[in-house]
Amino acid sequence: MKLGPYPIEPATYLAPMAGHTNRAFRELCRELGGVGLVCTELVSSQALEYSRQRALSFFDFDASEAPMAVQLFGGEPETMAEAARLVVDLGAPIVDINMGCWVPKVVKKGGGAALLGDVCQATAVVEAVCKAVRVPVTVKVRSGLTAAQETAVPFARAAEQCGVQAIAVHARSAEQGFSGSPDWSVITRVRQAVSIPVFGNGDLTTLEEARQMQQETGCQGWMVGRAALGAPWIFAQWAGLLPEGTPPLEWRAAVALRHLELTEQYSPLHEFKAVRELRGQLSRYDLGVREQLVRLESYAQARGLLEGLSGGVGLRDARERWRLPPPPVPECCGTEPPRSPGLP
Ligand SMILES: Cc1cc2nc3c(=O)[nH]c(=O)nc-3n(C[C@H](O)[C@H](O)[C@H](O)COP(=O)(O)O)c2cc1C
Repeated sequence: MKLGPYPIEPATYLAPMAGHTNRAFRELCRELGGVGLVCTELVSSQALEYSRQRALSFFDFDASEAPMAVQLFGGEPETMAEAARLVVDLGAPIVDINMGCWVPKVVKKGGGAALLGDVCQATAVVEAVCKAVRVPVTVKVRSGLTAAQETAVPFARAAEQCGVQAIAVHARSAEQGFSGSPDWSVITRVRQAVSIPVFGNGDLTTLEEARQMQQETGCQGWMVGRAALGAPWIFAQWAGLLPEGTPPLEWRAAVALRHLELTEQYSPLHEFKAVRELRGQLSRYDLGVREQLVRLESYAQARGLLEGLSGGVGLRDARERWRLPPPPVPECCGTEPPRSPGLP
């Protein structure tokens, strides 16, 4: 798969997740390997319009992260177009439009999932953004506002006409939130309606499930959200770069330590705020120290705790200890010529 100039290899996409997919986490997934595309947390186009300086102070993306999408939300075509121009000027390699978020503060302003209820307005937003920028534009949708009102298919067709280059489909309606099971059949319908790549999304936790989704729906890529939280190695496991299963505690702690280091390096937040966010993020690594994690106040405290758990080894050392054994060398590659069984 290619999005503009960017090969997406493998076609596995880290889902945008507010409060999680900051630069530190995106880089961590990349360092561990196996992720083809990453996305920022959602950014409000209105916030960029009204208090640009403040909104900019929270930006943590960089052009060097390509292929990476900066996700925008909003219901006003011109405001969204202006926001897209701005983030592209700042180096966004890809712009993604959020049409799936159902939280009231997004929907009340006509953005996110609200657009699923109005295909004309949604199309106007997408058209304005596609016209405003030269980088690839992608869209992330749910099936519709409600299961009975499925708008993903007509919208996907319109979006493709406007020039959108890929679409991610979370196979639930907005009304469902995260409840119930995803209905993969909507991914199939979107896939059949468009010729741009479709990423299937919703509850994927194992490679087997992902393969099954691909077989059933024909989707060209997978988007993974919650299963990557506290497990950023999931992409590397799916790509065969790391063994399956839960890594040992020492290794999980070494990855959490790297998460902390990257946060120190990249977070635009004051240490006090960044550590508060880290409390929840680090708790996901299941390190058995929740009590201490929820009381963390500083980077130094977090480092002390995680270094103790990782046994003082860095991620690189830990990676060495938990690496796949090298593949066996086929006999025919040795110095001896291959022999057929039975020959003397
Ligand atoms: C904590 C959290 C924050 C999220 N924030 C966003 C967001 O900013 N933009 C977006 O399009 N979806 C957001 N989502 C939805 C995910 O991108 C994804 O569609 C959803 O979690 C389903 O995928 P999963 O089952 O693999 O987690 C969020 C989900 C979670 C759990």
